[in-house]
Amino acid sequence: MTTYANGALPASIAETMELLESGDYLAGTALSTVLFLSLRMKRPLFLEGEAGVGKTEIAKVLAKALDRPLIRLQCYEGLDISSAVYEWNYPAQMLEIRLSEAAGSADRQTVESNIFSEKYLIRRPVLQAISAEAGKAPVFLIDELDRTDEAFEAFLLEVLSDFQVTIPELGTIRAQEPPIVIITTNRTREVHDT
Ligand SMILES: Nc1ncnc2c1ncn2[C@@H]1O[C@H](COP(=O)(O)OP(=O)(O)OP(=O)(O)O)[C@@H](O)[C@H]1O
Ligand SMILES: [Mg+2]
Repeated sequence: MTTYANGALPASIAETMELLESGDYLAGTALSTVLFLSLRMKRPLFLEGEAGVGKTEIAKVLAKALDRPLIRLQCYEGLDISSAVYEWNYPAQMLEIRLSEAAGSADRQTVESNIFSEKYLIRRPVLQAISAEAGKAPVFLIDELDRTDEAFEAFLLEVLSDFQVTIPELGTIRAQEPPIVIITTNRTREVHDT
């Protein structure tokens, strides 16, 4: 059996089918073909279908078979940037401010650049997915995209088109290597074209 360490990908449709079978996932030629092409072209795999047909499972099997981490973003109504992308660790920032006040040491600018540094950044799934080192890009499962609000869905698709996120206080974070993206929907509403 072929192993896919170090960022290697299946080289053919047949290999793609084998890869899925190695994870006990049954796939026909059609699914193996679209998966192979999306891996080759580095484009998201968009899976639409009824409950229980194996949309979520394929991402899990793929991550395992390709020896990559799986990062999952479960969508729901009201999903927002702070849950999906990043958030500042507010309590820890407050503590840092108090401590430097008490110590009377740092000036305002130093404190500010301290608290808006990576140390206080909480990485949510989208940011995690674009933060990997080259050769270790994860499988990024965006599950049930149709459950988010339309505006947030548009934002997510935008992030996925250039694999970068801008954090006002920090700057732009760009993926060294794009993640393998799998998007699922249950067809509760039409999802925009990608
Ligand atoms: N092609 C397949 N080969 C092997 N097992 C499968 C396959 N499709 C589905 N299964 C099994 O069926 C179960 C349900 O699959 P999964 O959770 O991926 O469904 P889903 O399409 O994501 O459904 P939902 O829309 O409800 O989230 C999984 O536990 C998986 O093991
Ligand atoms: Mg599912």
